[in-house]
Amino acid sequence: MQHRIPADQVRAGMYVCGFGGPWMDHPFWRTRFVLKSDRDVERIRSSGVPYVVIDDERGLGLPAAPVAPAPPAPQPDRTAIRRAISDWEAGDLERARAKSDRQRAGALVKRSLKVLRGAFADVRLGRAVRIAEVGAIVDDVVASVERSPRTLLDILRLKSKNEYTYLHSVAVCTLMVNAARYMGKSEAETRDYGMAGLLHDLGKMGIPDAILNKSGRLTDAEFAAVRDHPEHGYQVLSGSPNVPPMALDVCRHHHERIDGTGYPFGLPADAISLVARLGAVCDVYDALTSDRVYKDAWTPLETVSAMWSWEGHFDRDVLFTFMRSIGVFPPGLLVQLRSNRLAIVLESKRRQPVPRVLAFYATRDREFITPEELTLDDTMALDGIVALADPGDWGFDDWDGLAERLVNGDRSRIAA
Ligand SMILES: [Fe+2]
Ligand SMILES: [Fe+2]
Repeated sequence: MQHRIPADQVRAGMYVCGFGGPWMDHPFWRTRFVLKSDRDVERIRSSGVPYVVIDDERGLGLPAAPVAPAPPAPQPDRTAIRRAISDWEAGDLERARAKSDRQRAGALVKRSLKVLRGAFADVRLGRAVRIAEVGAIVDDVVASVERSPRTLLDILRLKSKNEYTYLHSVAVCTLMVNAARYMGKSEAETRDYGMAGLLHDLGKMGIPDAILNKSGRLTDAEFAAVRDHPEHGYQVLSGSPNVPPMALDVCRHHHERIDGTGYPFGLPADAISLVARLGAVCDVYDALTSDRVYKDAWTPLETVSAMWSWEGHFDRDVLFTFMRSIGVFPPGLLVQLRSNRLAIVLESKRRQPVPRVLAFYATRDREFITPEELTLDDTMALDGIVALADPGDWGFDDWDGLAERLVNGDRSRIAA
């Protein structure tokens, strides 16, 4: 069971599954882990987070409530703490949890397919969307992301041709929920983000599969049908009760682009809301990381690298926030670290990338430092990426040349 406790009550052996306040305000790279040492406990207590969420099924529970008259204070049960920690290190419990998370996520995918098939069928018949049923799926997605952010996405990457649009909708819902959590949105807002993702392509129910799955170039008439789906979906949702305004917005505007070349309206950047910009990012990310009839899936790293290179398509700040929410960054990016250093993102070594960076510049002293390579993994790294940095702001006029030397060249000469 999960409990919200003040930061000064955390103890070694507890399993942390969330923090109060924006996620970037706490000192850990991940928000779900077991507290293994007093040092980690101290870092939480001194971080200023208003509260911590713990799960007492995965680690130690709440401190015992005081009783009156108060008995002598019990000594901390160090044996129990050591046992809890060694259980975790053995990994048995973790593997069992992962298996159960996968089973639950698989069942959720089946349930969501049924509900979305029904919603699309309702709309084809001219009926309103049954928002309570759709909302129940969003709640399940939120719970799944809370338990294990990647599990549902890993399952959803495997999309069969006939179910692509439904599974893509659940995947975009999951990505929106994950991003909302990382941005520190409230429960109600997170739910609306998820609803927006789940319903964003509802207007596709009128487009024949032959067009949606076509591998060749679309004819003008076919492209017109595709271009119509945001507005069509919006009209349907407008006629359904209790649809959050955010879902209407994302449905109508998730194909707009920041440079005004999107559809259906070609809106300028200042007319596209932040949530619609995020919807556009999640939509394209899922499409590219999925197998389609006409293309193989790209890896997350290939995908964010390509998306980052497309000038004018996405809001860069929103795309950067999204990348932080999934922990994947394109190599070569200049970023600011929690430790007041600038770093360049390096190539990841594995297919499921863990961010690797090379810190090379102290921002307070504004001077080059001896480069240090860091892996920002799950082990509560002391450091983390906190912001995007602009090479021009730091006087790196030849950023491409400097990046090349940092990645491939003689790093010892960087500071010279
Ligand atoms: Fe769409
Ligand atoms: Fe989509």
